[in-house]
Amino acid sequence: MATADQMKALVRSHAEGDDTKFYAVALQVAARAARGGQSHFAQELRDLVDALRKQPVREPGRPIPVTQPRGELSGLLSVSYPETRMADLVLEPDVRERLDRVIVEQRQQDRLRAQGFRPLRRLLLIGPPGTGKTMTASALAGDLHLPLFLIRLDGLITKFMGETAAKLRLVFDALSETRGVYLFDEVDALGGERARTNDVGEIRRVLNSFLQFLEQDESDSLLVAATNHPQMLDRAMFRRFDAVIDYPLPTADVAKAVIRNRLANVRLGRIAWGDIATAAKGLSHAEITLASERAAKEAILAKHDAVTTAGLVVALRERQARSTQ
Ligand SMILES: Nc1ncnc2c1ncn2[C@@H]1O[C@H](COP(=O)(O)OP(=O)(O)OP(=O)(O)O)[C@@H](O)[C@H]1O
Ligand SMILES: [Mg+2]
Repeated sequence: MATADQMKALVRSHAEGDDTKFYAVALQVAARAARGGQSHFAQELRDLVDALRKQPVREPGRPIPVTQPRGELSGLLSVSYPETRMADLVLEPDVRERLDRVIVEQRQQDRLRAQGFRPLRRLLLIGPPGTGKTMTASALAGDLHLPLFLIRLDGLITKFMGETAAKLRLVFDALSETRGVYLFDEVDALGGERARTNDVGEIRRVLNSFLQFLEQDESDSLLVAATNHPQMLDRAMFRRFDAVIDYPLPTADVAKAVIRNRLANVRLGRIAWGDIATAAKGLSHAEITLASERAAKEAILAKHDAVTTAGLVVALRERQARSTQ
């Protein structure tokens, strides 16, 4: 059964509207029950949490508008209502702390604004591929029950500067009109050599108008920009964000948590985590996730009753070989 602390945590997270915390505590109660031999109750509770987590939830007083972008915007933005939650992400403690801070300030923004403060809302996420930057934008939207708008930068950058600025304006108008998480993925495309046009002056102007819109943006939306080429970003860009967050490749502990997370519903044998750490070194969260899936599928198809160290090591080595290709 739940301990007194767990009951208090449940009530507190309910009062704060913190679903992630609430379900996390419920799962702790389930784990405790399982350890205490109440496996049936534990399973029922886990199933219940799984089912409830999948339900679309609405923030009280903030009905989600119908926001499928129309007209010209439809070529620039795509919208989704992610089911990803912050709890699905495995992060370094300091990265999680910084993101939790964003969530808290967003949830309590009315109180902050009433005293003349603005919540954290413009984030720049930097890190190698597959470390969870895009997933973070989804999880922020998921935890805050906001729509996620993905900005299509390729649709934005055109040969005609006048047009690009007009399109950028449409996007930034949307930020004010519909509160959401707006993800500018691979934002280096706006300021780097990957921009489709070859005219340097042209790129400069695109970047300048982006910076200008960014500066003028007073909306309630969250603006998340992500890149794995920070060196390609203009220095002026960094100043415009409330937080610049680095996403490192996983440490051994994080790698272990990624595997455990992905294989939460699968039986794990006795795993030699030291061997796993060696095999996973240098791989991203995404690669480790894929290797875990591979090992689990192998085990299921071979009718093994658990995923083994050897199975995981083979799958991780295979990923290593691929990433050095
Ligand atoms: N921190 C993480 N915790 C758990 N799973 C992760 C994490 N990072 C990545 N993954 C897994 O890898 C997938 C891809 O990650 P994601 O798209 O967020 O990477 P990214 O940092 O945006 O990479 P890119 O720079 O290539 O866009 C996720 O959908 C998830 O399955
Ligand atoms: Mg990404």
